[in-house]
Amino acid sequence: MIILACDHAGYTLKEEIKEFFNKENITTIDVGTYSTESVDYPDYVKAGNAKVLENSNNIGIYFCGTGIGMSIAANKNPKIRAALCTTVGFACLARKHNDANVLVLPGRYLNKTKAIRIIKEFLTTNFEGGRHLRRIRKLKEI
Ligand code: RB5
Repeated sequence: MIILACDHAGYTLKEEIKEFFNKENITTIDVGTYSTESVDYPDYVKAGNAKVLENSNNIGIYFCGTGIGMSIAANKNPKIRAALCTTVGFACLARKHNDANVLVLPGRYLNKTKAIRIIKEFLTTNFEGGRHLRRIRKLKEI
């Protein structure tokens, strides 16, 4: 399942991406926010992370203005590996090397077309394991 979360600055792009998934008949869970009224991004990360962690196959896609706040907040949970991706290459490596389970996108710096390209790459790329799994296991020691 794909879990969507955003603050007010990510709302417009989140809505565009939700519409894209609807057209593709892909179900999403949207934990908000549901308007451009100013909110605090940690509240929506908390709700998004809880949903993502309900099933190991779940993927989160979070949106804020820069993507930075959402990334910092999401990674407070040791079971979340959130990656702020602004290029298709970053999305590819976030999955291959980091086994990221949350993709974070900057709503104020990405248009819909580029965001969809990044999302498609993220959702279709598998974790490579091997040395990268060793490194991910070491994250728990920090
Ligand atoms: C909201 O103005 C903005 O600070 C927020 O969306 C995000 O970019 C924070 O990192």
